[in-house]
Parts: sequence; C-alpha cells; structure tokens
Amino acid sequence: MEKARILLVIGGGIAAYKTLELIRRGRARGLAFRCVLTRAGAEFVTPLALASLSGEKVYSDLFSLTDEVEMGHIRLSREADLILVAPATADLIAKMAGGHADDLASTLLLAADKPVLLAPAMNVRMWSHPATQRNLAQLKADGVRWIGPEAGDLACGEEGFGRMAEPEAILDALSAELGRMRGPLRGRRAVVTSGPTQEPWDPVRFLSNRSSGKQGHAIARALAAAGAQVTLVAGPVALPDPGGMEVVHVRSAREMLAAVERSLPADVLVCAAAVADWRPRSPREDKIKKQAERAPPVLALEENPDILKTIAQRREGRPRLVVGFAAETERVVERARAKLAQKGCDWLLANDVGPQSCVLGGDRNRVWWLSRDGAEEAWPELGKEEVARRLVARIADALGCAAGEA
Ligand code: CTP
Repeated sequence: MEKARILLVIGGGIAAYKTLELIRRGRARGLAFRCVLTRAGAEFVTPLALASLSGEKVYSDLFSLTDEVEMGHIRLSREADLILVAPATADLIAKMAGGHADDLASTLLLAADKPVLLAPAMNVRMWSHPATQRNLAQLKADGVRWIGPEAGDLACGEEGFGRMAEPEAILDALSAELGRMRGPLRGRRAVVTSGPTQEPWDPVRFLSNRSSGKQGHAIARALAAAGAQVTLVAGPVALPDPGGMEVVHVRSAREMLAAVERSLPADVLVCAAAVADWRPRSPREDKIKKQAERAPPVLALEENPDILKTIAQRREGRPRLVVGFAAETERVVERARAKLAQKGCDWLLANDVGPQSCVLGGDRNRVWWLSRDGAEEAWPELGKEEVARRLVARIADALGCAAGEA
C-alpha cells in the first residue's frame, strides 16, 4: 500500500517532545509526516529536529510568502490522508471548536477536508474544566476523534488526566483511522480475547499461566488497522493498551466471558486468550496463613466456562466467523483437529507451546491454520505481528470484504 501521509500539527505543550519519537516510530511503520508547528509549539521543539526526523520542510507561518508559494495552507490538508494534532492543547481545542483561523494551524484545521485525530495534553484542571469539556463535546459532534489523555504524573507536578497518549498508542489510533477510511474490514465489528486469566484463591494468590497476550494484542491491532471496530478483552498482561480500539480489562474466565457477551454482536470473534480451565472452588476472603494450617492446604478446583465453545455453539447471535487457538505440546495438528470439532469454531490456529518452542511470552510464532471444512496450512515461523496480519487478511477474505480506497 502507498505510504499514508500524516499532517502533524504540533501545539505548544511539553508533550511536544514526544512527537519526535512519534515521527521516528511512525516512519518505521511506513507513515510519512509533514509537520506544522505553532508558535507556542516552537518553544518546545525546533523546526530543525522535526525536519530532520520527518525528512520534510516544516511549516509554521501563515503569512510566509515562500511557504504560500511552495505549499498554500489549503494544499497542506489536501495533500494529506489524515491530520493529527499532537499535543492538542486546550487552546488549539478551543480554537477548533470555535472555528478560529488566526494562525497556520487553526486555519488549516478549519479548511481541512480530511479526518482529524487529536492527542490532547494539558494540566488536569485544564482538561476537566467545563470549557474544555464543552469544546470537546462540540468537536465530537463535528466528527473529530481523540486518543487519551492518560492519567499519571504531569510535567507541571500535578497528577491526574492530562498526559498525552504514548507514541505507540497514537500510531495504533492513526492506523485504525486509516483502516476506517480504506481498510477491507471497515464497517465490521471484531472481538478479541487476549492474555491469561487469573483465578483467585485468596486475596494474594491465584492460578494463571505464562501467556503474555502478545499474539492476541497483535491480532486486535491488525483488525483495527484493517478498519474493524475492535473490542479487545484483555486478561492481566504487562502490555500497554493498544490505541484505536475499546479495551476491556478482566481478570477471571467468568469476567472474560461476561465481557465478550457484552461486546457482541460482532462479525468475528478471535479467542486468543489462554483461559484457565479451572478455578479454585472456594476462594478465601482472607489470606491463607501458613501458621493456621495444620498441613499444606488442598486446592479443590472447579471448571471454568469455555468462552470459545459457548459462543461458537450459540444458535443466536453467533459471530459469522469464530476463530480459536490451540495450545498443544504434542501431536499438535491431530489434537488441534479434534479440538476444532469439539469447540465448534470455524478456524483454529494451532501452536506448539512445548518447552523448546518459546511461543509463550516470545515474539515469534509457528502456527498451523485449520478450517472446519478440512483445509489445513502450515505457516512458516513468523513474528506475531505477521501472523496477525496473515490471519486478518484471511478474515477479510472469508467475510467477503475487498480492500478499497478512501
Ligand atoms: N478457551 C476458552 N475458554 C476456556 C478455555 C479455552 O475460550 N475456558 C479457548 C482459548 O482461547 C483457545 C481455545 O479455547 O482459543 C483452546 O484453548 P486451549 O487452552 O488450547 O484448549 P483447552 O480448551 O483448554 O483444552 P486442553 O486444555 O485440553 O488442551
């Protein structure tokens, strides 16, 4: 696909420094950036740094004769696929909501004919101020979307909502925006489960497994980049939330099933989570004390719901395509074939999670793709992102979606 062109408007906030990393990582993902720097933004990052990283001239002055001759302010948005405002300051948000046009950034935003994504960043009180919230409500009504801000320590020394989203999350959100414009799954809904579950035994102990969530999160990102509206139901993982999708955090298998059910209807469900098959039968409310036990306690278990099977065998409201995974340590394909039939899903991706395979927690995966109609394919060892892209291309084929242009 041709490189997507992002017009990046940089507002005047300390988070502007993160845009340098954003451009670097974004170019590695195949995006091209052209930057517009506000006067306040230039107090935080220099045009030279932006030009060096983007490989393009940086625009900042509405009344510059040379800039207008080279690239009129109207053309700046015409020649982009998408406009990203990062950091979107309270002032820029107010200008957009009010339709002001008194500098290059606000003028091109008013003249924009492309989708606009904001990455707000400001002090927590500025964010929660009724004026900012009113302006955001107006922008939402105008079709503008935003990612973040996140909660945390702010550069001003206060704490709360106001930190700009991290570059990776902003890039995920950009990919999802681009997907919505021209991806093969635009207009479709997808639900993905990912990561392990934790089944409490007492307030500090639980049963779980080694799943990292890398494969499931990668599938959710690839679905969003293909244009699907994605809900990621994630067990406890150490990964940051991907941008451009709804992320629902759960702990136990029962919470995961409930979250999946709330996310339906969907066109496709991918169950990539390593759900604990059993949970402690009588979890204790207080910590089990070694001193209080006469002998090592016996852990009685009961079975958890099978999320994949429950949804795949549902008569009403079953997603058109239900995809499972099979984690096996021996006779991988044979066991996966039996599992496919037993669960009632449409496809199963089988992987060898034996001790030498490094799949659990690793960055690479070797899968066999099996389909309900008997088809079978051994995929070469690939990065988990690449496995996700292959799977999503197949999902788009199966749902009869053709890639199109914006
Ligand atoms: N799965 C699920 N709910 C469960 C158990 C598994 O949704 N309670 C899903 C997983 O997300 C995966 C598929 O079922 O897509 C197979 O999981 P796996 O752990 O390989 O198989 P199990 O069903 O647990 O069977 P076994 O432990 O016998 O291999």
